[in-house]
Amino acid sequence: MPSLEIRDLHASVETAEGPKPILHGVDLSIGDGEIHAVMGPNGSGKSTTAYALAGHPKYTVTEGRVFLNGEEITDMTPDERARAGLFLAMQYPVEVPGVSVTNFLRTAKTAIDGQAPKLRDWTKRLREASIALKVSPDFVKRDLNVGFSGGEKKRTEVLQMELLEPKVAILDETDSGLDVDALRVVSEGVVRVHERTGNSILLITHYSRILRYIKPDFVHVFAAGRIVKTGGPELADELEANGYDAFIGA
Ligand SMILES: Nc1ncnc2c1ncn2[C@@H]1O[C@H](COP(=O)(O)OP(=O)(O)OP(=O)(O)O)[C@@H](O)[C@H]1O
Ligand SMILES: [Mg+2]
Repeated sequence: MPSLEIRDLHASVETAEGPKPILHGVDLSIGDGEIHAVMGPNGSGKSTTAYALAGHPKYTVTEGRVFLNGEEITDMTPDERARAGLFLAMQYPVEVPGVSVTNFLRTAKTAIDGQAPKLRDWTKRLREASIALKVSPDFVKRDLNVGFSGGEKKRTEVLQMELLEPKVAILDETDSGLDVDALRVVSEGVVRVHERTGNSILLITHYSRILRYIKPDFVHVFAAGRIVKTGGPELADELEANGYDAFIGA
């Protein structure tokens, strides 16, 4: 049974002028423990897919179905999806004034597990994960994402994933804006969680360099609201060398 199955997904985004169709039949099946990379031109609908999967209220699924470990999640609320094991690291993480990183993480963990983690275990895990991701203890006391640099936001998303241990993680351009050292630290964090938990990963990226660390089983080309080609890891290098012209008919 696939961990994540997307069948013929059509979705619209709410705009001032009314709903605007963005996704036009996304089909994707991610097997248990597999890593799938999605690459595609700007504005093709990759983040829209991520948001639609996470249940963002601005995106409406107009056709198609989504299953997580065999359970249909198409009509679930975002928190029900999170409890079912889905996690989204956003391309542009939102700032949450008044909520510290530590409080946010503990609240999220409690909501997902249905009970608060034991304080001692939790403190130890948070400390270990912070050290592994090179996040300073002072940093986690700050308000979530408020005034964080681009790279710090991405690192915090991976810290979240490390502690929440989702069954399926969607990483939307988690590599964008990272310096070379941060890219390695963040990628190693993703791989560590993957190896520890056997989770499945949907990795949206523009660059094949992250795929040297996080090795995909499949690479998909996303264009004009759907997946137009699927291949192995070599497809990422081909795309980086030749661009997307062959797939968008330009
Ligand atoms: N709120 C909105 N109002 C109008 N258009 C929107 C809105 N949200 C998304 N879109 C449009 O939907 C299309 C797909 O956007 P999306 O963010 O999914 O692209 P993407 O593939 O993630 O691009 P990128 O590689 O730049 O991150 C774009 O043309 C975008 O302008
Ligand atoms: Mg995007």
